[in-house]
Amino acid sequence: MAEPATTHVPDLSKYRRDFPILERDLSGRQLIYLDSAATSLKPQAVIDAVTGFYTRYTSNIHRAVHALSEEATEAFEDARATVARFLNADIREVAFTRNATEALNVVSHSLRDRGPVVMPLSEHHSNLVPWRAGNSVVLKAMPDGQVDIEAARRTIAETKPALVAMSTVSNGLGITLPVAELTAAARDAGAMVLLDVSQSCGHEPVDVVELDCDFACFSGHKMLAPSGIGVLYQREGLEHSLEPLLIGGAMVHEVHVEDHTFRPFPWCMEAGTPNIEGAIGLAAACDYLDAIGLDVVQSHCRHLTSMVRAQLEALPQVDVHVSGPSASDSMVTFSSKSVAAHGVARMLSNRFGIMVRSGYHCAQPVYESCGIPESVRASVHLYNTAEEMDSLVEAVSVVSKMA
Ligand SMILES: Cc1ncc(COP(=O)(O)O)c(C=O)c1O
Repeated sequence: MAEPATTHVPDLSKYRRDFPILERDLSGRQLIYLDSAATSLKPQAVIDAVTGFYTRYTSNIHRAVHALSEEATEAFEDARATVARFLNADIREVAFTRNATEALNVVSHSLRDRGPVVMPLSEHHSNLVPWRAGNSVVLKAMPDGQVDIEAARRTIAETKPALVAMSTVSNGLGITLPVAELTAAARDAGAMVLLDVSQSCGHEPVDVVELDCDFACFSGHKMLAPSGIGVLYQREGLEHSLEPLLIGGAMVHEVHVEDHTFRPFPWCMEAGTPNIEGAIGLAAACDYLDAIGLDVVQSHCRHLTSMVRAQLEALPQVDVHVSGPSASDSMVTFSSKSVAAHGVARMLSNRFGIMVRSGYHCAQPVYESCGIPESVRASVHLYNTAEEMDSLVEAVSVVSKMA
């Protein structure tokens, strides 16, 4: 594996060796993975944690009193405690879900009839579509996809919503949202706040107390953990607490012939056998990232994206869609003036071994509203290098001249 020359992460080469997939050879080319906003690569520590559950203590949880079940239950509840620490939350505030989409559906199922819900247009489909069944008010996007803060303040003050629901970083165009400003406006209007931290968790410190949110959610698979495990945070002591989407075994306290009682949050959200190994893998990812330091991960990714953004902007055949203070630290979206996004992505993969995402990135409304064509999205994580950014720019330059 090539040694990276420039890095903001001490021991980047050592960390890259933690990701076995980076050894993969793609028809003689070294893999360059720039699709972490879709899903991240997994370090050996996470793979080992999941494998350890299968090889040493496979068992169901919260049921049996045998040794393996007790071990698995302890590991699962320890995982909750680790995730809670990672978010600066309490264990009673952290429920495991399948992914961010499920968590967002739980909140919308519980709250969409309590009053208007305001959200930016740039949201992922999973934070737009579930709200459409209720009274949703969408904040218009400016030409670069960003929220107009003054207009948003006015809308929130006039609408007096029950909830403002927004992502910290929008995956569609790669925008950092003005979360502090919109949260303050929500509080002034007496609204609750839901933060979708799917694109910031694992890339920067996420502290639910500092963020002043009532609900938060994310998917583990974007922050080095397995697929099929996500988190729904609910601040303790909320007047209107969430209702489970699924009911049945494991989430009940007592079941009698005629009636039943539910367990409290978070356990009432975990009906049926949960993704035990996923939760254990997610905790391993939290520990792994904590040991490196999320501020280190953030400045590394910021360095890479600002570098590649500047280089792509210098290419006459390329439009970079977001730059300046709105631009995300972890992804860059761009279009070639001559080759459609899927064509660029296919050629980057086939000819250069570079994996990027192309299309609307599950955020079609913001593209339509801003008149931006389907784009190419290059997204980075801890394991990417400055040399990979150079390779991307070189490859995009070649591909853009091919039409
Ligand atoms: C900001 C944001 N929210 C929600 C989701 C949905 O995540 P999942 O498909 O894991 O539920 C994504 C996935 O791209 C996302 O980027």
